[in-house]
Amino acid sequence: MEHLVDNFGRTVNYVRISVTDRCDFRCVYCMAEEMEFVPRAQLLTLEELGTIARAFIELGVGKIRITGGEPLVRRNVIKLFHDIGTLPGLRELVLTTNGSQLPHLAPELRAAGVRRINISLDSLDRERFRKITRVGDLNVVLAGIDAALSAGFERVKLNSVILKNRNHDEVTGLVGFAVERGIDISFIEEMPLGVIGDHDRAEAYYSSDQIRADLEQTCSLVPTTENTGGPSRYFRIPGTATRVGFISPHSHNFCESCNRVRLTCEGRLLLCLGQEHSVDLRRVLRAHPGELEPLKQAIRDSMHIKPKGHEFNLSAKPLIFRHMNVTGG
Ligand code: GTP
Ligand code: 5AD
Ligand code: SF4
Repeated sequence: MEHLVDNFGRTVNYVRISVTDRCDFRCVYCMAEEMEFVPRAQLLTLEELGTIARAFIELGVGKIRITGGEPLVRRNVIKLFHDIGTLPGLRELVLTTNGSQLPHLAPELRAAGVRRINISLDSLDRERFRKITRVGDLNVVLAGIDAALSAGFERVKLNSVILKNRNHDEVTGLVGFAVERGIDISFIEEMPLGVIGDHDRAEAYYSSDQIRADLEQTCSLVPTTENTGGPSRYFRIPGTATRVGFISPHSHNFCESCNRVRLTCEGRLLLCLGQEHSVDLRRVLRAHPGELEPLKQAIRDSMHIKPKGHEFNLSAKPLIFRHMNVTGG
């Protein structure tokens, strides 16, 4: 089996595919209040997304994550899950979602072959949840989490972006919520992608170490070497099924072990979340309709421009103008 290896010797075996940049929420760390989205005519079709997924799998990629924006607001997206979920060679098809569509879609997603699901949840307080997402309804997301649990995914993980003075005092409550349900939770340090106009990202910084110290006031966290193939460093809470993860781009840089690339909904292959190095796979695909080899060659070649890592600086103006909804993280 062929493998993708970059110039720094890192094997790329994980692709994150953004199927839309649209979203029914407007999280303050992700988007500005007013956003312009990609015109629908410029999106890759579901068939094209499936073809790109096939090319990656043939190149040794075993893990595909569907992201957005909010991936589940894309019309007919379930068809894509069915198409990718059955491809031979794929180890796991996983999903990152804000949870709003799970009350009605969770069973279909499970049936289509989605193994694990990550759901964003930054607050358990209705008012605060509304403020952070600008428009979201906590009760719908909680119903979505319940629906995911009933649908029998192999694992459910919550993602919480922690901002000082917005939700930093909720970390213990969020872990308690995860423990009650036997699910995992990752705490994420905010990344400076795009101009958001809501808060000063340097002032809102709340480090993973601080969160860990807060949690250790009431529970013990035992480091584990468990790895889901993503950026989280995990800890176990003894006597529970829960793993607590930390995604710490600022305080514990993980670029050295980066194993992933991402595709935008327009077919731009981004080699790093924090840089602009990219290849236009839509152009290749449309120049050679139905052919996998040119696509595979463009992907092999892209490995030479995968940068060493991000250069995030919370105190400077964002260097990356693209908002997080373009890549889904
Ligand atoms: P698992 O497969 O469950 O480990 O999921 P994951 O952590 O890979 O995916 P998820 O969509 O839950 O991502 C959680 C957070 O990690 C998001 O905020 C992403 O932006 C962040 N993240 C994922 N990959 C990278 C990366 O390469 N660089 C940086 N800086 N952040 C990343
Ligand atoms: N920094 C860190 N995480 C972010 N997310 C969205 N925008 C940002 C940002 N600027 C998170 C979402 C979701 C995950 C895919 O990315 O909350 O959990
Ligand atoms: Fe939507 Fe996710 Fe961005 Fe929130 S973080 S606005 S849910 S894409």
